[in-house]
Amino acid sequence: MNNAGTKVKRIWRGFLSDTSIHACHYLTHENKHVVSRLLWLLAVMTCFALLVMNLQILYTDYKQYNYRTKTSVIFDDKLEFPAISLCNSQSFNTSRMNRTSELYKFLYGKHMINISTNLYFSDPKWNSTIVTPWDLETAILTSYDTFLRVSHGPERLGRNSFQMSYKEPLKTCFTYNGQWKQKDLTPMTANEDDELEMYVDINQDLYAFQCLTAGISLCIHPPGEPLDSKTPCTVLSPGHAYQVELTVQDYTYLPHPYNSYQSGDCTETSHYSFKKTLKYFHGYSYRGCLLECLTDTVLEACGCITEYEVQNASNKYCTVRQRQECVSPLRRRFYKNTSYANNAMEWCNCPRPCSNVVYHQDLSSSFFPADSLIDFLKDMQFTSSLEHARSNLMRITISFKSLMVTHITHVPEYTLEDMISSMGGFMGFFVGASILSVLEVLDVVLRTITATIASYFKVEIVNKPKRVLPQTVLTM
Ligand SMILES: *[C@@H]1O[C@H](CO)[C@@H](O)[C@H](O)[C@H]1NC(C)=O
Ligand SMILES: *[C@@H]1O[C@H](CO)[C@@H](O)[C@H](O)[C@H]1NC(C)=O
Ligand SMILES: *[C@@H]1O[C@H](CO)[C@@H](O)[C@H](O)[C@H]1NC(C)=O
Ligand SMILES: *[C@@H]1O[C@H](CO)[C@@H](O)[C@H](O)[C@H]1NC(C)=O
Ligand SMILES: *[C@@H]1O[C@H](CO)[C@@H](O)[C@H](O)[C@H]1NC(C)=O
Ligand SMILES: *[C@@H]1O[C@H](CO)[C@@H](O)[C@H](O)[C@H]1NC(C)=O
Repeated sequence: MNNAGTKVKRIWRGFLSDTSIHACHYLTHENKHVVSRLLWLLAVMTCFALLVMNLQILYTDYKQYNYRTKTSVIFDDKLEFPAISLCNSQSFNTSRMNRTSELYKFLYGKHMINISTNLYFSDPKWNSTIVTPWDLETAILTSYDTFLRVSHGPERLGRNSFQMSYKEPLKTCFTYNGQWKQKDLTPMTANEDDELEMYVDINQDLYAFQCLTAGISLCIHPPGEPLDSKTPCTVLSPGHAYQVELTVQDYTYLPHPYNSYQSGDCTETSHYSFKKTLKYFHGYSYRGCLLECLTDTVLEACGCITEYEVQNASNKYCTVRQRQECVSPLRRRFYKNTSYANNAMEWCNCPRPCSNVVYHQDLSSSFFPADSLIDFLKDMQFTSSLEHARSNLMRITISFKSLMVTHITHVPEYTLEDMISSMGGFMGFFVGASILSVLEVLDVVLRTITATIASYFKVEIVNKPKRVLPQTVLTM
């Protein structure tokens, strides 16, 4: 035992006097007074304690997965032009309405501000009245009469460059550059000078039903993402010319374990390993996925769809009663449920992309038309009088304010490299140690253990009476 003790002591003494960890050699210094050595021991212990404490704090911080927000501004010579949707406050053309038809009565009931629609639709006749998108399409204010003149950059656009879409049930809109139904996204790029200019007639005199306000909602969204009731829009009034200048912000969040989007997980949908495809859309978009999920939910629960859902999912359209009693409440619940990324994932398996583009609009306006322009507008047959022009016409121009894209990116507060350099810093600062010192310690511990074990067996053998002769061992 004694032998082992001295051996281990020797190993440690050797280690303490040779190690690169600072101050350790003072502990074994023969010339030092014992008090001085004790003081050094205290100092070394304190430093070790501080080191352990700081490493512990560092690790806890790392495990919290904090992130920082990094902003960078990058200049591009061309930017992708967004999809532009315009929705009239009231989209039915009074001269296309058959006032004795059930469709008219239904729409009338929906648009009456003074009655409770629930009461109205309890009538059994609504059990068999079906409203299809074609019925609605024949009754709306068309794009041909809404867009008087449209051009994008130098190019004059036909009025058929607008496709019909639904912002809400019964609320038709016209979308320019909406590509969610197309097989391949063909990015439409624009530079600062390519301005989308639209002369719009809201046809207030043709509004079929009451509405509180008259005007147009302008919705700007990414081209691959369908218009839906959550798309942000701005309402514009007739009698004005609006200049909309867009700035593009590109947000990138961090996926699990950082969960930096609404504390929910997100998925890098542009990564090659992302495989999810949609049934009714080409390419993946979050809003498309939700719309698809809503379509399936509605189809399953009500057995029919309305014009708001994806059209080629089924050709069975809901009766007025089904719309009122099944589809509308379901849709409301659906959007409430899925307003958090985690719920959307749970109910619909719709991963939220880790990056999204937001178009910020700077809106400025002036009176339109100017008094002096009225004769020209009359000549062009856009209007019949100044008064008509003031309450129906507007001019909207949309362009990029600058070709700078602001990238707002969440980055981890501690990466692995940060961790290593902080660890190195702490170890160096407190005890002057490095990874190699750690190896030294491991080495000395290992040697201590082997020395102890070796001497233990030796002691055992020494203590036992020698019964077996070396010769017999050899012969065996
Ligand atoms: C209007 O609707 C009624 C009832 O559906 C129908 O009998 C009538 O023929 C329609 N009139 C026109 C002009 O379409
Ligand atoms: C609502 O107003 C319309 C006309 O504006 C009227 O014909 C109708 O009777 C009113 N309904 C109720 C329930 O007051
Ligand atoms: C209409 O449908 C409701 C439920 O959807 C049902 O309770 C009612 O009996 C139906 N009325 C007629 C006349 O079919
Ligand atoms: C409204 O309907 C009438 C009759 O069908 C049609 O001539 C006119 O062009 C329509 N107006 C709009 C803005 O759709
Ligand atoms: C939807 O319609 C398109 C073309 O009209 C078709 O290619 C596609 O297969 C349809 N999708 C479904 C799920 O029916
Ligand atoms: C909404 O959430 C509730 C529970 O929170 C669930 O019962 C319901 O089915 C959900 N609705 C939809 C449409 O997902």
